[in-house]
Amino acid sequence: MTRVVYVNGRYRPYAQAFVHVEDRGFQFADSVYEVCDVKGGAIIDRDPHLARLARSLSELQMPMPMTMAALRLVLRETVRRNRVRNGLVYLQVSRGVAERDFAFPPPDTPATIVCLARSLPPDYAAARAERGIAVVTAPDIRWRRCDIKTVMLLPAVLAKREAALKGAKEAWLVNEAGFVTEGASSNAWIITEDGRVVTPGLSASILPGVTRATLIEAIAREGLILEERHFTPAEAAGAREAFITSATNTVMPVVSINGSAIGDGRPGPLTRQMRRIFHKTVAIKE
Ligand code: PDD
Repeated sequence: MTRVVYVNGRYRPYAQAFVHVEDRGFQFADSVYEVCDVKGGAIIDRDPHLARLARSLSELQMPMPMTMAALRLVLRETVRRNRVRNGLVYLQVSRGVAERDFAFPPPDTPATIVCLARSLPPDYAAARAERGIAVVTAPDIRWRRCDIKTVMLLPAVLAKREAALKGAKEAWLVNEAGFVTEGASSNAWIITEDGRVVTPGLSASILPGVTRATLIEAIAREGLILEERHFTPAEAAGAREAFITSATNTVMPVVSINGSAIGDGRPGPLTRQMRRIFHKTVAIKE
């Protein structure tokens, strides 16, 4: 089967899915995106992802390139045409193509819209969740609007590279005050000795994760205790358990930080419970 990619109104064969060299996404990272998990052909938390896309666009003074209904259709069609049952769907919108100039192009410049879908083995994240992942810390060198989901991802790329060189899957970014803000491509969580679930509160320093929001709903529904506050790498190293959340990982246990084991160095029962209640909440919402 040939993979196809949605590019500006057309479904193109993968090998011919091009964007112009003067695309503002390419030249200025003037572009926003979303990644949704696909499970059994369903796009998980589709509407909250689209709502965040709309917010990212609005924060950058870009108009919605099409209606929400049309965007839903593009996501669905891209998943369908690529026969993705389990995997991800990626949607990106840039300010369009214009001669290189820092100034915004004329307002009638059409946005560039790209959507692609990819299959992943159905047990891809589940198998990894059985083992858990290692994280390392890295300085948070990103800009001050990390709440906007832009493709300006070079700091994340470099942090992930550092992590990979140290045998870790994710980097936890640490701000100048010494607190963990979030992962390079995930939100960061710990569980304290007395079972409180802790994650940094929303601010311009972190992305408001859709998985984070759904898990917070699940935590409330189960009557568990959530604390939205900062924590340091040292607190994380001494925590009972730790984990990350993101669309494709959902809830992924963290078993070590900077080489030091968290708890007994294996995914703990509370993190497993987080994973379970997250999936239960998603199933209820479907
Ligand atoms: N990343 N924080 C950052 C910096 C992220 O890039 C992501 C997601 C998250 C988690 O958000 P959500 O739960 O909505 O996926 C937090 C995506 C998956 C990516 O860039 O591939």
